[in-house]
Parts: sequence; C-alpha cells; structure tokens
Amino acid sequence: MKTQTLFKKILTIRSDFPIFTHAVHKNRLLCYLDNAATTHKPQSVIDGMVHFYSQDNATVGRAIYTSGERATSLYEAARETVQHFIGAQNASEIVFTRGATEGINAIAHAWAAHCLHAGDEIVLTELEHHANLLPWQRVSQQTGAVIKFIPIHADGSLDYTDLDTIITHKTKLVATTHVSNALGTTVDIDRIITRARHVGARILIDASQSAPHQRINVTTLDPDFLVFSGHKMLGPTGIGVLYVKKSVHHELVPYQCGGGMVFNATWQTASWLKMPHLLEAGTPAIAQAIGLASAISYLEQIDFKELAIHEAALCSRLIDGLLKLLPIRILGPIAQLRTQGHLVSFVVNGLHAHDVAAYLDHKGICVRAGHHCAQPLAQTLGIEASVRVSFYLYNTQQEVDFLLETLTQIISHLPDMK
Ligand SMILES: Cc1ncc(COP(=O)(O)O)c(C=O)c1O
Repeated sequence: MKTQTLFKKILTIRSDFPIFTHAVHKNRLLCYLDNAATTHKPQSVIDGMVHFYSQDNATVGRAIYTSGERATSLYEAARETVQHFIGAQNASEIVFTRGATEGINAIAHAWAAHCLHAGDEIVLTELEHHANLLPWQRVSQQTGAVIKFIPIHADGSLDYTDLDTIITHKTKLVATTHVSNALGTTVDIDRIITRARHVGARILIDASQSAPHQRINVTTLDPDFLVFSGHKMLGPTGIGVLYVKKSVHHELVPYQCGGGMVFNATWQTASWLKMPHLLEAGTPAIAQAIGLASAISYLEQIDFKELAIHEAALCSRLIDGLLKLLPIRILGPIAQLRTQGHLVSFVVNGLHAHDVAAYLDHKGICVRAGHHCAQPLAQTLGIEASVRVSFYLYNTQQEVDFLLETLTQIISHLPDMK
C-alpha cells in the first residue's frame, strides 16, 4: 500500500520533468540511472531561469537602475533560500560557487594555503572524490602539511578503529565526504566531527551526495565548511554552494580578486568586502542561482524521509537481483545501502564496466562506468572500473527490473557463465 502511494507520487513527479515526456513523445526509452553524476530538471527550474532571462535580466550588486535592483534582490533571495534549506544562521555564510569542486578549491586557497604550515596534518578518508583530494595534495605541496587517511574496510565502509590516532592535535583540517559517490557509503559524520572538534581541527564536509537526498542542517551538524553542487539536486549546472561558518570568516582571504568583492581600490592596493562577497569575485551565475532556488523550492515539497525510503527500496531491489547474478560483485556496504543508500556500484567479472555501460545504453539505460573520479579508491579496492547505478526521486521499480533483465541478457552471453 505504502509502495503504491509512493509509486503514484513518482508518476506525478516524472510528469514534472520535460525530459521524460520528450523521450516518450520521441518513442525513446530513457531509463536514467546516473543521478549521482547529475540530475534532470523539473519544468519549474527551467521556467525560473527562462523567466529571469526574459523578464528580469540584469547584473547584480552594482546596477542602480530598477531591473538591476530586482536582479540583485532575486540573487540575494536565492542565497536566503539556500540558507534556510541548510539551516544556516546567516545569509553571509552562503557563498555561491560553480559547484562543489570550486567550493573545496576556494577553501584550499582562501583558508588552508595561509592557515596551514609544515608539520600540520590534513585528514581525509579513502572514499574521497578527486575534488576532495587533489586540492589538498596541492595545499600539502605548498605548505608542507601532511595528508593522512581514514581507511576503509574491504566492503567500503569506513574503518574508525584508529580514528583517535589519525585525528590528533597535529590535525588542522578534517575534510570528508558525507556519502561516497563511488560506493554509496554513508560516513558517520557526527563521530568524525566530534573527534575533530576535540582536537580543535577545522571540518569540511563534501555534501555533494548527501544534500540532494537528506536534510542537512549545518547548525546541528556544525562543520566549518560544507559544499555541494546544484546540478545534482535538480538545479542547473554552473552553480554550487559553499557554506562557511561565520566564526571562521576572519580567517579567510580572497582566492580570486576582481569586481564585486572590492570595498576600496587604488593603483597600489585594495580592501575587500565582507563575506559572502569576499569569495564571489566577478559577475556571478545569477540565473543559475535563481534556478537553484527553484530546485530547492521543488525539493521543499518532497518529504525527505519518504525519499530516503524510496531510494533505499530501489537499492535493495537492485541488490537482491544482482546477488542472483553470479559473475557480479557488489562494491560498498550492502546492509547500509539497503537502508540508506541511493546508489549501488558493481563489477561484472570478465567484462569491462565500459562494455556493460555501452550495452545498457544500447537499451536506453544510462549508468556511469569508470573510476567515478575516485581513482585511488578504485586502486585500494583492486579494481580498474565499476558500473554505478544511482537513483533519485523519479526512478521506479520498473526501471530496476528492466536494468536487471538487461544485465541478465549481458551475462548470458559470457562464455563461462552459460
Ligand atoms: C562526492 C563528490 N564530491 C565532489 C564532486 C564534484 O562535484 P562538481 O563536479 O559538481 O563540482 C562530486 C561530483 O560527482 C561528488 O560526487
């Protein structure tokens, strides 16, 4: 009964997304299972941006004329929408970026590069996306700070056994993903934050794979920095969010200089505006910020608890089916994925992940294949590539069944499995 109700809702939800209607009209099957990479956009998000460009277009923060002031109000209102969405205390804590990658790089340059020194330690996990690894490698080269890793178990869950000896008084920053984009592992963020606070380290959370799927409240979570991308949560590309707790603002320097962030400039020197403008040099992505606000308004109508149940049920159905297919090895902590996952990764023994994905594409099924921008993690797991299936609010049980049927066909062609 409950599933029925959810399913009815999903059909209504799907009708909000023109890409699905378009596919039906073109008689094209679109079984989109790559939501961890990017999500589709509801009509309201597209309309929000079209409305801005067709009726309110102007730059922000500097125009004196009426439409410029209106554009500024819309842009700042979008910031407040994000603020309330993640439970931040102040709008000044919300910086618009191009995405999670830019947010992490911003902190690497605007905070870490001058706050960290030789002998300091940065702690990451072995689950990190390149976006939360490579910027710290560079900081390490620049400052002499040393990077340490919280390891994973063989099933892709995080091993907290040595947490107290990994995060020590030398640790100045703990930067961790909330949910792994490659394995779907949910990190015990409270445990890590508690330990990091105990030693006085700053905390950065990469919420790219959690903010779209669960309610994030930065006031209760209490990180210093948190990032996510708009395009993974129904918003447009080119917009993301960097949250910086107000008490850390005084430790920041601009990482890009130019218009929009200057208080006063002479030929020799300049002084800066306060946050959030300090980290928003140049003309921002105005329409995209408005599109993100529309996406958040759409998501505000979704019960996140129901969404989590729906996604976990799809993961469970997929896992049940995959476990029956012998040459398939599921990566990631299966029990956790069944209760709180939104993605499942696997390898098909004897077939490269790219070949699996290409065959699935031939049937209209979109999945991701590769190392998922987490190449060191793939090396640790001893694999070259995997297939990743990732769900969102518009995916259905029928799509999971269709994927499983198609995988069964693929496997029936494998010589050893006949
Ligand atoms: C966990 C995680 N972190 C960071 C990123 C980078 O996001 P973006 O490419 O939108 O900046 C991604 C994108 O896949 C991700 O999944």
